[in-house]
Amino acid sequence: MAASEPSSGQRVLVTGGAGYIGSHTCLELLQAGHSVTVLDNLCNSSPESLKRVESLAGRALELVQGDIRDFDLLRRLLGSPGGKQPAFDAVVHFAGLKAVGESVAQPLAYFDNNVAGTVCLLRAMAEAAVKTLVFSSSATVYGDPASVPISEDFSRSATNPYGRSKLVIEDILEDLYRSDPAWCIARLRYFNPGGAHVSGLIGEDPQGTPNNLMPYVSQVAIGQRECLQVFGGDYPTPDGTGVRDYIHVVDLANGHLAALRALRQDDGQSGRFLTVNLGTGVGVSVLDLVKAFERASGRSVPCRVVARRAGDVAACYANPALAKTLLGWQAQRNLADMCADAWRWQSQNPQGYRQSAAQAHSDGATR
Ligand code: NAD
Ligand code: UD1
Repeated sequence: MAASEPSSGQRVLVTGGAGYIGSHTCLELLQAGHSVTVLDNLCNSSPESLKRVESLAGRALELVQGDIRDFDLLRRLLGSPGGKQPAFDAVVHFAGLKAVGESVAQPLAYFDNNVAGTVCLLRAMAEAAVKTLVFSSSATVYGDPASVPISEDFSRSATNPYGRSKLVIEDILEDLYRSDPAWCIARLRYFNPGGAHVSGLIGEDPQGTPNNLMPYVSQVAIGQRECLQVFGGDYPTPDGTGVRDYIHVVDLANGHLAALRALRQDDGQSGRFLTVNLGTGVGVSVLDLVKAFERASGRSVPCRVVARRAGDVAACYANPALAKTLLGWQAQRNLADMCADAWRWQSQNPQGYRQSAAQAHSDGATR
């Protein structure tokens, strides 16, 4: 397809596509008529997510199990330098480690995986002349914001190695674009993703104790955990608990399709560099979220207010106006939708994807 043609039917490489946000994005990409290859080392995901994506889409995708730090593999995947046509039109880059506490304990693992991995990917893309990239950044780059709502021009800072890895990658992308303005790059700063696909077939499948609020609340509601610890009841917020911008994962996924369209909008000859918040603009407190989840699930979520968590900020929510202007995107789903969909996923898959893996194993054993 010539670069100036409409953006349907692109060939998209999705790194980290088996993960939470990646799997939802793969589904939206397939449903929009794109072809999808996933590169994932499955260090925090299961191939079962992609089997379910295929069955929901009624179309196949390709899974390559491998690491973004494997330059030879990337070279083979993306196509040889000077080849007739690159193998992909665009890369959507989710692959990365994301646990803040773990990043404090193992900073080198985070810089290696996230920063060195991204550099390796970018080198292979440059060599193969695949110069369209959508990158998963995070609202964590705003550190402790001076005020809310947060606009893209706010100052950035890092409070932990995970956040620093996102900051460094953002800067690398900017330098890359300056060096070669043929690149088309979108840095998408996600606020707090939550919820699941409305089918209840794909969703978030945290390993061990969830770090984030939404999966923790789901596990309390289903009885896997006794009580939610509310980290801090004395913030300068309406009810004293932390305020965040929870965004439905399907809306977030669609933000990536909107970014791919926006990157192709111009004449196809010159590059683009976009930095955009993906949030709803609505601030929701921990207690608001708990109440909404109780309503959606019909279950009670016992809570206990404890000390603040180190590194947490009082309030963090987006000014989402630029996404509307630049991408023509805005969130369609609200907190009630997010809780209902998260609950459907949780109640249909109490063990996440592990249940299917165990089922497949026992089916195999009895054959
Ligand atoms: P996830 O852990 O579910 O998905 C990440 C995927 O990347 C996993 O499937 C994992 O196996 C894979 N991966 C990790 N390192 C890899 C490597 N070296 N090579 C190949 N594959 C690798 O996480 P997610 O929630 O879907 O997050 C996706 C991206 O969005 C991450 O970059 C994350 O930092 C960013 N992000 C997430 C959130 C959030 O709250 N979930 C918020 C802001 C930004
Ligand atoms: C966390 C990360 C941030 C990352 C973001 C999205 C930290 C310090 N920050 O942000 O870098 O970009 O996830 O992945 O981990 N809460 C409780 N009890 C819990 C869990 C959370 O009260 O058991 C509260 C928190 O204090 C916060 C809110 O719920 O007020 C949301 O927490 P969480 O889901 O962890 O996201 P963030 O803190 O926004």
